[in-house]
Amino acid sequence: MKIRVDKLLANLGYGTRNEIHKLIRQGAVTIDGEIIRNISAHTDADVQTVCVYDEPVDYREEYYFMLNKPAGYLSVTESDEPNVLDLIAEKIKGLFPCGRLDKDTEGLLLITTDGKLAHELLSPKYRIEKEYEAVLRDPLKAEQKQKIEAGIRYDSETVYRPCVIRELSENTVRVIVTEGKYHEVKNMFSAAGNEVMHLKRIRMKDLILDGSLAPGEYRELTEEEIEALRRPSPVLKQEV
Ligand code: URA
Repeated sequence: MKIRVDKLLANLGYGTRNEIHKLIRQGAVTIDGEIIRNISAHTDADVQTVCVYDEPVDYREEYYFMLNKPAGYLSVTESDEPNVLDLIAEKIKGLFPCGRLDKDTEGLLLITTDGKLAHELLSPKYRIEKEYEAVLRDPLKAEQKQKIEAGIRYDSETVYRPCVIRELSENTVRVIVTEGKYHEVKNMFSAAGNEVMHLKRIRMKDLILDGSLAPGEYRELTEEEIEALRRPSPVLKQEV
């Protein structure tokens, strides 16, 4: 795909357009080893190598990072408090978290520039599965499990859709939900008279949290992982 070199470098955080034009005029930027001086030069970054001060520029059309979100970070792009983009060293323009985890929730968060994919993953139309591991205050009672799995009412306006709960131990459960409502897992258990003490997301669709990532660590998605996320999900005919 052809793209203006100044735009490509701006997207990758090499500076403002003016700063990048300065770099180009200084002869710091090359395409396949040839110095460029024209600030409106284009490149086909899929086949050509762009360098700045002889360092190859690592360009992708879209970026996909899997972050193991630590507690204490907001899932937003700008804030006075620490946010998840602070943890991504690559200062790529247009990166955003795909969906939201509470400040104290840990685990899988996709950070991407791909708005189309994010829209599909977050749209209620596709009911994408999200799996969480939750540590509960009290051992889960059979009736609590049954109520939550059947779809529990939280307040006058909120009823959660049916979900699947698997018990790992007395106080630890895996929950698979297909909504993306604010505080949904915590609210579901609180509506049943229990409380989530610790919450960690471990899967979204087919994307599984890489167990080798410590909280705060991240890595790029593999081609296979991106393909699996892009695989069409069946559109559900009726919305509840
Ligand atoms: N449900 C919650 O209650 N919190 C989250 O962060 C995600 C799902």
